[in-house]
Amino acid sequence: MRLLVTGGAGFIGSAFVRRRLESTADSIVVLDRLTYAGNRANLADVEADPDRARRYRFIHGDIADPATVRPLVASADAIVNFAAESHVDRSILDSEAFLRTGVIGVHVLLEAVREVTAAGRKVRHLQVSTDEVYGSLEEGMSSEDDPLAPRSPYAAAKAAGDLLVRAYHVTYDMDTLITRGSNTYGPHQHVEKLIPLFVTNAIDDQPLPLYGDGLQCRDWLYVDDHADAIGFVLDHGRSGQAYNVAGTGARPNREIVAALLGALGKPWSLVRAVADRPGHDRRYAMDGSRLAGLGWRPSVGLEDGLAATVGWYQSHEAWWRAAKNGDWDAYYERQYGERLAGSTSA
Ligand code: NAD
Ligand code: TYD
Repeated sequence: MRLLVTGGAGFIGSAFVRRRLESTADSIVVLDRLTYAGNRANLADVEADPDRARRYRFIHGDIADPATVRPLVASADAIVNFAAESHVDRSILDSEAFLRTGVIGVHVLLEAVREVTAAGRKVRHLQVSTDEVYGSLEEGMSSEDDPLAPRSPYAAAKAAGDLLVRAYHVTYDMDTLITRGSNTYGPHQHVEKLIPLFVTNAIDDQPLPLYGDGLQCRDWLYVDDHADAIGFVLDHGRSGQAYNVAGTGARPNREIVAALLGALGKPWSLVRAVADRPGHDRRYAMDGSRLAGLGWRPSVGLEDGLAATVGWYQSHEAWWRAAKNGDWDAYYERQYGERLAGSTSA
């Protein structure tokens, strides 16, 4: 297959590109805008390997730009769309870019697929989505046909993308798929997210800002498992369906933080209780039985995955110190300055 992978220079997209080129004979064009979260260095190993590099091309561009997108879609067999603004806290500070990429960008991709489909050629569109579209659950697990109930601007933009994909499947008979992955962790994740932020701050003996009571639950999924599940759905999914990609079981944030500190040999006293995220979703949990029924399950347990992740950040300081450049200090001050000034012991 000839794949167009949008947002392929980000955290999960780059893992997908790396693993897909390794495990198939596919060729891949990556289209990425290289926002603060996109990083070509995430694909450096692919570019350095002659076999994979031969089947790979990088294009710097925006999914919301029809002139860029149209010719790329015209020569692809499938699109896997990872492109998004992906951090909830940034969406609370300023949501415009989330809507631009998550709504207009998805619409531009779908319109380009519609043109090609109307001309008689099938192009499969896989939309990479998230458990956050279901909203916060007090109990039970979200199934694919549950109503969407997003509660942050990030999740609302992702839900809008899912609804557009569904509408294009129904209206134009397009070949579409949606995957809804749970909280993902592993190498190459931007330092703004919980696990890399806490690991890198702890390495530097800096405070770890834990929101609220720290008892919010997330179902952590290792990045290679998430990437493989997306490839599996691309190959085996039924057109028009959504597939949950669940992790290995929900855990409270405090438990994750304690495990990270244990792996790093750092004290709990680094953790500071800070003012909560507004509208903070208490718990995500998904029923992964639809994907299990097709034959896919996660293979990396939380303990092994966290150990691999901590080890990667310990041995890739140059990578994450570079991500703490640019607008990082201004963002950090805006997000955490007052919170840390008013923090209490956790
Ligand atoms: P990321 O922020 O690391 O990467 C996003 C990538 O998209 C970056 O390379 C960025 O440059 C690119 N991008 C952003 N806007 C673009 C645009 N307009 N045009 C082209 N490229 C653009 O995000 P991630 O964590 O790898 O997430 C990838 C996808 O997976 C997202 O759609 C996200 O919603 C979804 N997801 C993430 C998680 C998670 O825990 N990280 C869980 C479930 C689903
Ligand atoms: P995050 O990695 O931002 O993912 P999401 O919001 O998409 O679940 O956060 C994971 C959890 O960690 C979430 O409950 C918020 C919490 N958190 C903190 O307590 N402190 C932080 O500084 C960050 C970034 C997150």
